[in-house]
Amino acid sequence: MRKALTRIVIIAILLLTGGQFTLLLPGVLYAFHEGGVGYCEGCHDLHGPLQARIPDTSESDALIPDTYMLKGSDASSTCLICHAEAGAFYNIFSGDGSRYTAGGDFYWLKKTFASTVNGRIYLSEGDNHGHNVIAADYGLAEDRLSDSAPGGAYPSFSMGCTSCHNPHGTISGNANNSKPIAVSGSYGSVAPQGTIAGNFRLLGGIGYDGGSSSGGISFANPAPVAVAHQSNWTETNTNHTAYGSGMSEWCGNCHNELLSGSDKHPAGNSARLSNAIVTNYNIYIKTGNSRGMQAVSYLSLVPFELGTADKYLLDPSSSSGPDSFGQANVMCLTCHRVHASAFPFIGRWDFKATFISDSHPGPGDSGVSGNDVLNSYYGRDMVAEFGQYQRQLCNKCHVQD
Ligand code: HEC
Ligand code: HEC
Ligand code: HEC
Ligand code: HEC
Ligand code: HEC
Ligand code: HEC
Repeated sequence: MRKALTRIVIIAILLLTGGQFTLLLPGVLYAFHEGGVGYCEGCHDLHGPLQARIPDTSESDALIPDTYMLKGSDASSTCLICHAEAGAFYNIFSGDGSRYTAGGDFYWLKKTFASTVNGRIYLSEGDNHGHNVIAADYGLAEDRLSDSAPGGAYPSFSMGCTSCHNPHGTISGNANNSKPIAVSGSYGSVAPQGTIAGNFRLLGGIGYDGGSSSGGISFANPAPVAVAHQSNWTETNTNHTAYGSGMSEWCGNCHNELLSGSDKHPAGNSARLSNAIVTNYNIYIKTGNSRGMQAVSYLSLVPFELGTADKYLLDPSSSSGPDSFGQANVMCLTCHRVHASAFPFIGRWDFKATFISDSHPGPGDSGVSGNDVLNSYYGRDMVAEFGQYQRQLCNKCHVQD
């Protein structure tokens, strides 16, 4: 009786607050996936124009099956109907590089920058700025630089949103997969009893096939544990994905050989930050200034994992650096973004600039338009914040400057 009452009260509160928030913040709580599969018609067009489409046998089209009655020409074009919507908080493909999300703005795939450095042409190619998702309706095509994932076998011609995100949000290979998904797995929300939360960012879990066109891939590693702010996806030092564990292992579903090896930078759950590195991270402010303190040392350009599988310990608004309990670790996203960035190899910063102030895109480079330079570092004026002579951001952990 008491239990039933509590449940009614909880439901009432949920209904009330849900209703209220929607009224107060129209749009902000416009939910679609809810941690799992959204309503089918959001992506599928059951009797729509695609049915009547004349089959296209051109090569590029033949590679991406456009069956499944999707609303766009292919899976990624379908996602972008909403995720390229101007002004939406869930936009990850802007027309000007102004989306500062943790994953990054696919805009940079379309930008190639060229400059002359010491008489030599320096090229920073669009295809090298991100995972080349194939979205025919948005002019995004297969990578011309690599035909498969470096350190793995995943084919570039299959690359799209559903290579990484499970469009239906299902969780297979999970002991709990008989329970319904009730909430998003991205915000640290508590799933009501008898239900579970979805995977972080709907990422494919163990057994995921990497999308319908990948040709029989099966993910070996689970989705990572991390927590983000529910509706403010603009990354800053005090609002960022709080990474827990498993991100590198998850990248290893396609880049397995990059996970470990004597000639590779350590990354992953076991790549712990030594006490010396923890201290460096916490005191390092910029080249020539190591007077920082842990409570405010988090730098979103150089994130780390806390080394926990407990999402309730993760706080996206924390400005804290790693603690010295020996758990925090370095991961792939310490140096890379996952969607795209303004820099080669999807760097969080320009790996080829001795001084960060000489990064490309820079003022005067060909290919630069609008606010590209400012947007490349997520709206930070790098010279104002770090000085003219800031060196590589590796120094946040290894003070060599
Ligand atoms: C967020 C977009 C999205 C939503 C919502 C969605 N689908 Fe899909 N669905 C896709 C995409 C994209 C594919 C193509 C498969 C791929 O690329 O991985 C697909 C493929 C399928 C397939 C065939 C392949 C398979 O995985 O079995 C079926 C059946 C299907 N969807 C049914 C549904 C049903 C039923 C719903 C509603 C309960 C639904 N979908 C909701 C995006 C979506
Ligand atoms: C009908 C519009 C629509 C379509 C189509 C759509 N999305 Fe979304 N997506 C949203 C909205 C709205 C949100 C934010 C609210 C939410 O999470 O439901 C969102 C959020 C997300 C998130 C974050 C969710 C979380 O819980 O962390 C991911 C990841 C995502 N979408 C991926 C995709 C992918 C991949 C596709 C294509 C297979 C897709 N979306 C298609 C509207 C859409
Ligand atoms: C190579 C894998 C990969 C591909 C391809 C990919 N995503 Fe993501 N996406 C991720 C990961 C990992 C995150 C979490 C990033 C973080 O928090 O650092 C993410 C985050 C997101 C988010 C939350 C906002 C953000 O940027 O953090 C949305 C929305 C989203 N993805 C949609 C899409 C859509 C739509 C596509 C296709 C146009 C796509 N993704 C392609 C891996 C991928
Ligand atoms: C579903 C498979 C898949 C997953 C998961 C995946 N990648 Fe990739 N990655 C690829 C493929 C295929 C390429 C080469 C084609 C391209 O760049 O689109 C690639 C290329 C790259 C490149 C080189 C980029 C360039 O343009 O030259 C980097 C860096 C990278 N991945 C990092 C990551 C990181 C970090 C993660 C995890 C957060 C990750 N990848 C997850 C398939 C994947
Ligand atoms: C400490 C920083 C750092 C970490 C951690 C890191 N990378 Fe990289 N990565 C780089 C740099 C710098 C490059 C540029 C080229 C080079 O030096 O090989 C690069 C290049 C790459 C490339 C392109 C390689 C090629 O041959 O085209 C891929 C793919 C990649 N990284 C994926 C990953 C994945 C996956 C992880 C995690 C398992 C990871 N990286 C961890 C810094 C890092
Ligand atoms: C988040 C912290 C972090 C960042 C940022 C980082 N590293 Fe590391 N690095 C580590 C850890 C942890 C190790 C493991 C060895 C150790 O504890 O000293 C390591 C090891 C190394 C080593 C081997 C050192 C040895 O003693 O064997 C080199 C070289 C290196 N990193 C270079 C780089 C470069 C270059 C960058 C930037 C592209 C970078 N690191 C960024 C944490 C980091």
